[in-house]
Amino acid sequence: MAEIERVGVVGGGLMGSGITEVAARNGLDVVTIEVSDEAAQAAHERVESSLRRAEKRGKLSVVDVTETLERVTVTTDLDALADRQLVVEAASEDERTKLDLFARIGSILTDDDAILTSNTSSIPIVKLGAASGRADRVMGVHFFNPAPVMKLVELIPSLTTSPQTLERMQSFVSDTLGKEPIEATDRAGFVVNSLLVPYLLSAIRMYEAGYASAADIDSGMVLGCGHPMGPLALADLIGLDTVRAIGVSMYEEFKEPLYSPPPVLDRMVDAGLLGKKSGHGFYPYG
Ligand code: CAA
Repeated sequence: MAEIERVGVVGGGLMGSGITEVAARNGLDVVTIEVSDEAAQAAHERVESSLRRAEKRGKLSVVDVTETLERVTVTTDLDALADRQLVVEAASEDERTKLDLFARIGSILTDDDAILTSNTSSIPIVKLGAASGRADRVMGVHFFNPAPVMKLVELIPSLTTSPQTLERMQSFVSDTLGKEPIEATDRAGFVVNSLLVPYLLSAIRMYEAGYASAADIDSGMVLGCGHPMGPLALADLIGLDTVRAIGVSMYEEFKEPLYSPPPVLDRMVDAGLLGKKSGHGFYPYG
């Protein structure tokens, strides 16, 4: 079977632009899909500014940056995915949106061997597979934010994913992208979010109940437990809408109260306080 050289990424937000960068930095040709020209331009700028930051830190040369950017096309035309050997869907964490995308992309891909994956944290992979009409070549491939930095990728085969699809993704993630895969079963949250999200939501509840200030809750976990960042800063980094959406999906699946988003999180999302990406969450960002 041909080696994967042509990748599609659907969604150029925080995760989509990070995945685009990771793939392009590893020599792959990447087509990234966005919903509007403005969003496409913003996605391209996110990739470019992240590459420039790596250049400033001496990790990439000016030529590396130019060549990496040449491998990236951001477009609003979903049909541009037709010749892709692998597509990673990284649209917003909304089941209806993803089901619709999987149905459309499933009919656009022309390569019979092409694999269609989702970067979802919590939406059932088996449903996405069924919607795509190519369920044996669909699985979850879950990256972590910031994607260029975090080493882990969770691989989630569903009940209908073929062993060959899983094997191809295992070697793609480790050999082509140089990341560490772990395998998880197809249930909301997989490994990392099943542990992380109740922790983040507990910190938000603590903040809501007035136990301590946001800064002191975060300092507690950074200085007391050696975490690289505190839970509220991390929720801001992930995006409060995303944290909320993952909690909702996990609560729907398990009915576990710890997964249920606290009211203050609902209110912040309703107010457009989405964390770092919107300029304000538990903290302001300049
Ligand atoms: N994009 C690209 N690179 C970035 C970056 C970004 N957004 N943010 C930081 N980096 C890079 C820096 O360029 C730097 O690279 P080098 O070491 O190669 O020079 C390195 O990361 C360290 O950056 P800084 O020194 O600026 O900052 P830091 O040491 O404070 O690290 C951090 C920043 C990497 C974000 C660190 O705080 C961290 O690891 N935080 C925890 C992140 C985490 O837990 N992520 C998982 C979230 S859960 C998730 O994503 C899954 C989900 O479904 C919700």
